[in-house]
Amino acid sequence: MDGLFCFRTDMNDLDQLVAAASADFAAAPTPAALENAKARFLGKAGRVTELLKGLGALSADQKKTRGAEINQTKQRIEAALAARRQALAEAELEVQLKAEALDVTLPGRARGLGGLHPVSRTMERIEAIFGSMGFEVADGPEIETDWMSFTALNNPENHPARSMQDTFYVDMKDEAGRWLNLRPHTSPMQVRHARAHAERHAAELARGGSMPEIRVIAPGRTYRVDSDATHSPMFHQCEGLWIGENVSFKDLKVVFTEFCRKFFESEDLQLRFRPSYFPFTEPSAEIDIAFASGPLKGQWLEVAGSGQVHPQVVRNFGLDPERHIGFAFGMGPDRLTMLRYGVNDLRLFFDGDLRFLQQFR
Ligand code: DAH
Repeated sequence: MDGLFCFRTDMNDLDQLVAAASADFAAAPTPAALENAKARFLGKAGRVTELLKGLGALSADQKKTRGAEINQTKQRIEAALAARRQALAEAELEVQLKAEALDVTLPGRARGLGGLHPVSRTMERIEAIFGSMGFEVADGPEIETDWMSFTALNNPENHPARSMQDTFYVDMKDEAGRWLNLRPHTSPMQVRHARAHAERHAAELARGGSMPEIRVIAPGRTYRVDSDATHSPMFHQCEGLWIGENVSFKDLKVVFTEFCRKFFESEDLQLRFRPSYFPFTEPSAEIDIAFASGPLKGQWLEVAGSGQVHPQVVRNFGLDPERHIGFAFGMGPDRLTMLRYGVNDLRLFFDGDLRFLQQFR
């Protein structure tokens, strides 16, 4: 405050009082301190009140002049007080505004951009490639009946081939009194789709006419009691089925080779059909692929099971195996995704760790 208020020698006592009050007010850093300072000048025992009390000793004339001067002094002190009050209030507001300031130039916190899961990307690729070859896409239930998952696929009750799959069962029975299961493969979709197709064309077939070919893939989730670096209790499969009057193993080879080359974007990919066994196909083959370059170059990698659909299964479709013939295949989109992106642990796909998943955005 030094220098702000200089007490001039010609100031009278009242001017000095106003200057002192102004200095005191200006020195009060807070509204509370200001109220204390006010009390010192305008309070009951304050200096202005004391001056007023002193009037009693004066003559009537002096009282009048002096009284008017003291009142003026009081008003000037009150004005100084009001000015300081306002200054403090403004300063306080300023502080508050600063504290609550919204910096509109600050870059926003962007919402994380979502992306498709790598396995979903694979599913979309599979659908697009088979779609371009005239295949429909079918979807079906993940909780299946025993007949659909096994019996219709030529997997008789109590047959040892059933134990190829360690199935999850649901604590609920179907109409035949058998436990429902979490489908261990997408193969029941062959039966569901083919039966619906045959039913739609039942009239033509009864007349001896022909039905349009069945050409379908059925991607989806499947379940088995299995868990390690290359197996997960929930995983994905994609079933394929092509049934017509003249569809052969050669067609399977052409279609699947075309699919693999498109999927891996590699024209010199090798395919191998290795004899195998599945109850629902005869003959059956595992399909292996080998890359012409890259870290897995020359190594045979199994990507699908396949085969000519077994006559009993064609019968279960509601079709005549003497007339309708074709092939089926079942592949693992998780495995295809691992190969395509060079991922070596299947569980990474299902852990939900963003550090992993964000790499595929
Ligand atoms: N369902 C078989 C499995 O889960 C895969 C499979 C093999 C499907 C041969 C087919 C097939 O359609 O023809 O292991």
